Amino acid sequence: RPRIGILTSGGDCPGLNAVLRAATKTAFWLGYDMVGFRDGFEGMVDPIRYQVLTRENTSAILTLGGTILGSTNKGRFGARTGVSGRAEIMPELIEQVAQTIQTLKLEGLIVVGGDGSLSTALQFHEAGLPVVGVPKTIDNDLECTAYTFGFNSAVLCCADALDRLQTTAASHGRVMVLEVMGRHTGWIALHGGIAGGADVILIPEVAWTYENIIAKIRERTEMGQSFTLITVAEGATLPDGAMVTDSHSGGNLQVKLGGIGHVVTDQLSQMIEQDVRCVVLGHLQRGGGPTTFDRVLSSEYGAHAVRLVYQKRFGQMVCSDPPAITSVAIADAVHNIRTVDPHGSTVQTARGMGICLGDTPG
Ligand code: F6P
Repeated sequence: RPRIGILTSGGDCPGLNAVLRAATKTAFWLGYDMVGFRDGFEGMVDPIRYQVLTRENTSAILTLGGTILGSTNKGRFGARTGVSGRAEIMPELIEQVAQTIQTLKLEGLIVVGGDGSLSTALQFHEAGLPVVGVPKTIDNDLECTAYTFGFNSAVLCCADALDRLQTTAASHGRVMVLEVMGRHTGWIALHGGIAGGADVILIPEVAWTYENIIAKIRERTEMGQSFTLITVAEGATLPDGAMVTDSHSGGNLQVKLGGIGHVVTDQLSQMIEQDVRCVVLGHLQRGGGPTTFDRVLSSEYGAHAVRLVYQKRFGQMVCSDPPAITSVAIADAVHNIRTVDPHGSTVQTARGMGICLGDTPG
């Protein structure tokens, strides 16, 4: 039987195993065997590490978090940034990957990853390798697709945290600041904030001030609401334009600096009488199993990626264009990140419900 290769690359997220399962099952029915490489692209080069994925060993992983193949977002396939601004893969590594594809007689390689991993996949495609992409990130910030899988699961995690914070905040009349992921964009903060009943949502796409947040807190107090829930995206900039996180450090600088959630909490504490507390949701948003929405999306993506290989439509990335699952050129998807439209309907909905985005009082 002909073979297809698959790997999961970059930060993990709920739904990766559901993609592997759907791809393996679909491949089986189309007459292919599936080879899963260990630890992202690393498993394709010396020493080559892979396992044959079967209907048996991918059974019962639909709801499992993480990835059974392992993943990596550092090292040889992610480190160097070239003049184009994208990670440049060393020619000898591309040659090794090509050799692996040839040795294992793979008819196609499915790369499940975010913008960095898909940029790498694009370089393989430009070198003539038969690559297909599947978009993955909880941040939902990839171009050309309405949704990446993992996002909905992260939003649920954020909303669940807000549900819990609401009862304790109300009991003590406190302001609660919840910092959520979103390295460059506010998708999780906005959607999670709406889903969890946040009163203030701070995102990188909208400039905000402490005075406007405080006006919202006062308005709520006057209404008889003694508590306020604030959701802030880790990538939101401070009022002076400063960034607390550093996108080039994989979001890790926040650990050293305390994160924007702590900065906002400290500052508000100095400006108001009320108690202010901070929770950083962190990697809880990436752990655990996928929501039902993500299970379906991941399954559709995995199945469609195999169909693209079957049709020899290489250089394409599976995408969601509701209600259709379709595909676009990987080159179009990795050009820019997709930010929240500050004038779009979701932001308007938030404003219309009285949620403060921090750019106007109340
Ligand atoms: O891009 C996904 C993401 O979870 C971001 O939201 C976050 O900034 C980053 O990855 C964290 O990366 P790491 O797990 O490497 O710290």
